Amino acid sequence: MVINQSFVKDFKSELVVDSPGRINFIGEHTDYNNGFVLPTAIDKKIVFSFQKNDSEHMCKIYSSTYDEMLDINLSKLEPSEKEWENYILGVLSEISKISDGVKGFDCIVDSQLPIGAGISSSAALECGLAYGLNELFNLNLSKIELVELSQRAEHSYVGTKCGIMDQFASVMSEDKKVILLDCRSKHYRLIEANFEPYKILLLNTNVSHNLASSEYNTRREECEKVKEIISKTYNKVKSLREVTKSMLDEFRNKLTDVLYRRAYYVIEENNRVLQASELLEKEDVQGFGKLMYQSHRGLQHLYEVSCPELDFLVDFSEDYNEIVGSRMMGGGFGGCTINLIHADRVNDYILNVKKAYRKEFDIELTSFVTVPSHGTIIRTNGTKKH
Ligand code: GLA
Repeated sequence: MVINQSFVKDFKSELVVDSPGRINFIGEHTDYNNGFVLPTAIDKKIVFSFQKNDSEHMCKIYSSTYDEMLDINLSKLEPSEKEWENYILGVLSEISKISDGVKGFDCIVDSQLPIGAGISSSAALECGLAYGLNELFNLNLSKIELVELSQRAEHSYVGTKCGIMDQFASVMSEDKKVILLDCRSKHYRLIEANFEPYKILLLNTNVSHNLASSEYNTRREECEKVKEIISKTYNKVKSLREVTKSMLDEFRNKLTDVLYRRAYYVIEENNRVLQASELLEKEDVQGFGKLMYQSHRGLQHLYEVSCPELDFLVDFSEDYNEIVGSRMMGGGFGGCTINLIHADRVNDYILNVKKAYRKEFDIELTSFVTVPSHGTIIRTNGTKKH
C-alpha cells in the first residue's frame, strides 16, 4: 500500500489516454456471426497515465480500482490467475507478436466503469493500453490494428471468444453519433444520435451471473454448428450472416430445437439492426424503441442469455408510456438494461424502478444517464487528439 502511494505520488505522466466504455442500441450476439451492430462509446471511461521508465523489459501497472500493482517482465509474458491482469498481459503479448517497439514503462489505470455491467470495461482496458503504447513508443499501428489486437488479447489470455463490437466502439466512435458496423467487412456508417426528447438511461442490475463467459462461448459454438451444417449444401455460407430464414427452414429437421432458435434469433436481430438504423435516420424513436423490445424478447426466449433481473426491468418499463424502448445489453446474464426514456420522467422513473427492484430481489439498482461520445483520446499537455 505504502509502495503504491509513493508510486502514484512520484509518477511523472508523459501521456494520458481516455478509453471509454460503450453502449449498444441493438444487434446483440450478432458481431461474431459477421452481422450488424449499432453501438457507440459513452462519457464514462478508464483513464491511463503512462511514463517510460528507461528499462528494457520491466513494467509496473497500478490499478486504482483494485489498489493492486502488476509487475511485468516483457521478456517473460504469460497468463495470470487474475482476470484484470490478463487483459493487460494479453495486449502486451499480442503487441509483441507484431512489434518489438515496446520497452519498459509504468502506468496508472483509473477506471470509472463498473465491472460486469455490460458496458465493456474490458475492451476499454485493452484498447486504452494498446492505444497508449502505440503513441508512447511510436509503434505506427493503425486504429483498426489496435482494435483487432485487443480482441485477440481477450481470446488468447482471457478466454472469451468475443466479437469485434466492443473494441471497435471504444476506439472508433464519434461524439453524438452511433456506429452502424458491418462486422463482416468492418465497414461502418456514423448515424446522428438524435433521440430527442428521449434520454439514454442505463439501469445496472448489479448482478453478474457466472454463466456469462462459459455460456458466451457455448453460444458461439452453437452458431458455428448451424453454419457447418448449412454450408455443406450452401458453400457460400461462411457464417450465420449469409443464412436466410428460408435456408434455415430447409434445414429445420437436421437441427435441434436449440440450434434452430439460436440461428433464428441471429437472422432476425440482423434485420432489426438494419431497420433500426433506418428509423433512427428518420428520427422515428418510437419505431426504434419497439425493435429494442423485440430484440430483448429474442435474447430472452430464443437466444437465452437474459436473466430474471434483466427481464424484470424490461417488463417493468412496459407499463410506462414514457419509455419507448428497453432491452438487456452486452453478453447477458446480468449487467445493464438500456432504456430510451422521456427526459421529463427520468427522475421519478428511477425512484419507482429502484423501489420495485429492491422489493423483488433485495438488491440495490444503480442507474445513470449517458450520451453517445467519442472513442479513445490521447491527452498531451492539455490538448486532445483522436
Ligand atoms: C460481449 C462481447 C461482444 C458481443 C456482445 C454481445 O460484449 O464482447 O463482442 O458479442 O457481448 O452482443
